[in-house]
Amino acid sequence: MPDVDPRGRFGLRVPTSRTWVEAVVADPVAALVDHAHCEMKAATTALMMAARYAAFPAVADAMLALARQEIAHYEQVAVELRRRGVHPEPHGADPYAKALRAHVASDEPQRLVDLLLVSSIVEARSCERFELLADAPVDDALRDLWSEFAVCEAGHHALFVGLAQGIAGADAVARRKDMLLDAEAVIVEALPCAPRIHG
Ligand SMILES: [Fe+2]
Ligand SMILES: [Fe+2]
Repeated sequence: MPDVDPRGRFGLRVPTSRTWVEAVVADPVAALVDHAHCEMKAATTALMMAARYAAFPAVADAMLALARQEIAHYEQVAVELRRRGVHPEPHGADPYAKALRAHVASDEPQRLVDLLLVSSIVEARSCERFELLADAPVDDALRDLWSEFAVCEAGHHALFVGLAQGIAGADAVARRKDMLLDAEAVIVEALPCAPRIHG
C-alpha cells in the first residue's frame, strides 16, 4: 500500500506511513494505552507551563484551560480502556516528545517560544495521525474517539502557534517552527513502527 499523503498537513515534512496505520489497526488497545499516557502528559505539561509562566497571563490562562481539556481526553480514553477490560500501567518517557524537547533553547524568552512550538508540533503530529486512524477500518467507538481528538488537537496546534506569535511575532515564529519541523522529520523517521501515537 502506498504511503498516506496528508499534503504537508501543518507543515509536517514526513507523512505518517500506511504501515503505522496498519500497526495501530492490528493492536488498537496498545495505541489507546499509549494515548492515555500522552493525554496525561499533555495535561501535566500544561499545568507546569501555567505555573512557570504566570507572568505571561495569556499563556498561563490558556494552559489552565488546556489542562482541563487534556484531563477530559484522558478520562475518555480511560473509559474506553476500562470498557475493554484494560488498565494502563505506569509508563516511561515518550521518546518522540523527549527528542523534540532536546531542541528547546535554555534561555528565556526563547525557551518559552520553543516550548510552545514543540507542543504545537506534537499536537500537529497527533492530529495528522488521528485523522488517518479515523479513516482506517476501526470500530465505531474508536472512530468517534479518533475523529473527536483530531479536531481538538488541530485546535491545540493553532492555540500554541498563536501564543508563540504573541510573544515573538509571526516572522520569528515561522522561522523557528521551520527549524523545529525539520528536526521533527528526522525524529519521526528514526522511530520504530509501533502501535503508539508517537511510535
Ligand atoms: Fe488531547
Ligand atoms: Fe492536545
